[in-house]
Amino acid sequence: MKGIVLAGGTGSRLFPLTKITNKHLLPIYDRPMIYFPIQTLVDAGIEDIMVVTGGRNSGDFLRLLANGKEFGLKHIHYTYQEGEGGIADALALAEHFADGHRICVILGDNIIQGDIRAAADRFRAQSHGAHILLKEVADAERFGVAEVAGDRIVGIEEKPAHPKSNYAVTGIYMYDSSVFDKIKTLVPSGRGELEITDVNNAYVREGSLTFSFLSGWWTDAGTFDSLLRAANMVKESGAVADRAKGAA
Ligand code: G1P
Repeated sequence: MKGIVLAGGTGSRLFPLTKITNKHLLPIYDRPMIYFPIQTLVDAGIEDIMVVTGGRNSGDFLRLLANGKEFGLKHIHYTYQEGEGGIADALALAEHFADGHRICVILGDNIIQGDIRAAADRFRAQSHGAHILLKEVADAERFGVAEVAGDRIVGIEEKPAHPKSNYAVTGIYMYDSSVFDKIKTLVPSGRGELEITDVNNAYVREGSLTFSFLSGWWTDAGTFDSLLRAANMVKESGAVADRAKGAA
């Protein structure tokens, strides 16, 4: 399975912090945000990794990460997203890199305490389809929210005003190679983006979306409050800090 870190976007919810740099280069306590999703992939045994970025500061990723030596990697692939087309639009750019393989996609601002090894192994054993990771949260309206019936997801709503459950869809997604054809059928949402939630719902309709629950804490870092929370969680969790030590 190959890994894709999505690290584009304008980070507008963090202006002016993101006026002169990319959100994923901002510090989370003692290291740049992007170190964490890369480490999550490497910990799951995924070492063939592409970073999708964009904007005026994209060159800084290359200067920061180079060939990924700090993560034990020999090489990192990079690609460039023009404009602001959303998560699924950014993912579409990785089609040639995926080259028919399964992929594990992680949003560049998602930071987890534990690891995704068990979920990755479960998806590797699945004949086809997709696998996502859910987390019970108190503020589900900020996220994609899964409606679960028994061991099945029956639908996902993106940032619903009245969530049907407390199960947030985290920004870690595992897909078979049909994901790129599914993206080609999408139309932009109300916010003008190709939504990853619409990709996941295509797998729901096909009956091939499985899920597991993420253990340990999880946070995104795209708002002032979640950026601060992420830093505090990393600081208080020595394990994460050691794991994603990078160049430190
Ligand atoms: C994105 C997805 C959302 C998901 C979240 C996880 O939201 O659209 O479904 O729950 O990431 O971090 P964003 O915060 O990028 O708008």
